[in-house]
Parts: sequence; C-alpha cells; structure tokens
Amino acid sequence: PEKAVAAMARQAPESLAELNRLIQRSEPLVPGATQAVLGEGPEGAAIAIVGEQPGDHEDREGRPFVGPAGQLLTAALEEAGVDRGGLYLTNAVKHFKFVQRGKRRIHQSPTAGEVKHYRWWLMTELGFVRPRLVVALGATAALALSGRPVSVLRERGPMAFDGWNGFVTVHPSYLLRLPGDEERRRAQAEFVADLRRAAALA
Ligand code: URA
Repeated sequence: PEKAVAAMARQAPESLAELNRLIQRSEPLVPGATQAVLGEGPEGAAIAIVGEQPGDHEDREGRPFVGPAGQLLTAALEEAGVDRGGLYLTNAVKHFKFVQRGKRRIHQSPTAGEVKHYRWWLMTELGFVRPRLVVALGATAALALSGRPVSVLRERGPMAFDGWNGFVTVHPSYLLRLPGDEERRRAQAEFVADLRRAAALA
C-alpha cells in the first residue's frame, strides 16, 4: 500500500493544466472517442456546472456544451441572467460513448462503473477551480458528485456533495427529449428558475 500511495503522489497533478494533460493523454475507457473534452472556464469561477459526458458535437470540437444541449443550456443561462463566460463548465465523464448506426453516432449513457472511473479527475479538477457552488445537470453528474444514485426530479435543489455546496437540476438533453411543446416549455421555465436559484446561492 505504501508503494501505491507513493505512485499516486507522483501522479498527483500540481495544477489544472497538468491535470488536463493527464486527461488528454489517457485512453478512453470505452474506445471510439475522438478526444477527451476538458473543462472550460476561469479557475476561481463562482459556479461550476457539471454535465454527463461530451456528445457528438463536443467530441468533434473538443469543447463542452457546444451541441444542441449546450445551446439550450446557454439560452437558459442567459434567461436566468447568468453569464456563461464567467462559469466553469465540465463533465462527469470526459469521453464520448456511443454506438454507430450508419453515419450517426448514438449517445450511450455511462455506467456507474465508468462514472466512478472518472470521478477522481472530476474531484481533482474541482479542487483546482474551487467554485462556491457546483451544479449537477442530471443524474450522472449527481451520481458522480454525491457518490450515490440521485432521483433528479424528486431531489432537485440544493444538495451537499462531498465537500462542496451543490445544486441538482435536470440535464438539458432531458428537456430536448420531452414530447409535448407545452410540457417542454413548462420544464424549460423550471430549469431557468433552478439556474436563477442556484446562482443566488453562489
Ligand atoms: N451533454 C453533456 O452532458 N455535456 C456536454 O458537454 C454536452 C452535452
């Protein structure tokens, strides 16, 4: 065990840049991703937002939240009066997991084991950013941050995560998938209200 601890200490990055180099050099747990998608935003941001994993667009562009879910998030933040540029945005899992169907790459949710595999990186990353509040978007982020399964619709709102002031809300992809226009509008308004409430806590 002493050797293992020494090996860990040697690996422990001393900066976010060094951590990011480790992440970039790592193999995806599930093969196929183009690249690791790193967190983005200023160190010392008051709020960190944690998503699930990069999607198809994020995997190609190498930036978090640039696809349809990211666009919805950006619009909701704007409506809530929160400047996206001042936030730190990242994901619980750093590689896109998918199945190929013809030309399309269909998103696959990470397993609990995969989330656990990436958890050390996420926690180390947050340790460098030191936000006042960590917002989990959806169940995967909430699992990664709390270490237990979370029912997002029942438990949405403030939640203490392993040493961080946290807040749980839905994932924007969930909003994109809601079938009825009316239902989607209502759920989006609730999402904006959550973001506004979270920002007031930070
Ligand atoms: N969904 C996520 O959870 N993260 C992204 O970066 C993009 C889509």
